[in-house]
Amino acid sequence: MQEKLKQIKKSFGEEIENVKDRKSLENLETKYLGRKGELTQVLKGVKDLAEDQKKEVGSLANKIKEELSSQVEDLKKSLGGEGEKGFVDVTLPGKQVERGHLNPLTIVQNELEDLFVSMGFMILDGPELESDYYCFEALNIPRYHPARDMQDTFYIDKKNESGEYDLVMRPHTSPVQVRGMQKYGAPFRGVVPGRVFRNEEIDACHEHTFDQMEGLMVDKDISVSNLISVLKELLNNIFGKEMETRVRPGYFPFTEPSIELDIRCTICGGKGCPSCKNSGWLELIPGGMVHPRVLEYGGVDPKEYSGFAFGLGLTRLVMMRYGINDIRLINSGDLRFLRQF
Ligand code: FA5
Repeated sequence: MQEKLKQIKKSFGEEIENVKDRKSLENLETKYLGRKGELTQVLKGVKDLAEDQKKEVGSLANKIKEELSSQVEDLKKSLGGEGEKGFVDVTLPGKQVERGHLNPLTIVQNELEDLFVSMGFMILDGPELESDYYCFEALNIPRYHPARDMQDTFYIDKKNESGEYDLVMRPHTSPVQVRGMQKYGAPFRGVVPGRVFRNEEIDACHEHTFDQMEGLMVDKDISVSNLISVLKELLNNIFGKEMETRVRPGYFPFTEPSIELDIRCTICGGKGCPSCKNSGWLELIPGGMVHPRVLEYGGVDPKEYSGFAFGLGLTRLVMMRYGINDIRLINSGDLRFLRQF
């Protein structure tokens, strides 16, 4: 029986080492010191021992009981009393919390949307699978017009009743110009962020799937200077400082006159690099005054109203904002890249 008592003391000692909370301490107390506990059973058996053993075993059993009870009491105190939160081991390593990250494209798009809403523009959406009519015809680019080759468009392999392909993956966000005017009329202020698709040779600054943000403002007496001031406001807001820009004449069948606004490449500071095709400038925002025919397609009277439109290269703007030297990283889904934002 003395052996048994020593065994109980030993295993109790090992088990109490691993107790980290009140609940397991209560279980341990019940296991050894409860009414049917291991030590209690031994104590109950003392009365059946021979007289000469009773005293010796009895006093050893009581001594061990006191030791075990006092260890339980001490631990109860350090674990905290009833109703308290209990023991916290501050030395344990913390749990790693995974943080989600927004794609830099989403960050810049959100900022631009806030800026344009503050200037009274609405945010519009349009279909990515778009009709030939809204992509080209309503933008003053009839079928077989050479301007259709300005972008390499993905046509959908399905002919209409007249035997023509009339669905495309939109190569620009401009189709929402006419959709917007048809729906809301004039005066109109709206921006359209969205994905566009082109059959492009891919390199550091060209993607086949990238994002643009179309802008359209139609009202009385709108001029090119309104366009340029809105574009400069956009750039200053995104870069937080005055950006070096240049405005060149451009050509688009749906704007007249047309302009191209370039910014000094922020990757190389203008020295020339693969991101700016070694020119030191990055073609970023084309635009112009909406062609009267396009206003008519939108149901707006060009004698009463004029408007400007622009087609910001949103993905390129993101590259310039964060100094990303390869456009392919943005949609790569590479977590090593995304975790930086
Ligand atoms: C257009 O798409 C016209 N719809 C823009 C426009 C709208 C003009 C309204 C006038 C009025 P462009 O093809 O140049 O234009 O493309 C616009 C911008 O998209 C470019 O300046 C460039 O920043 C970006 N871009 C063009 N191609 C790519 C590409 N492959 N990868 C990434 N960005 C591109």
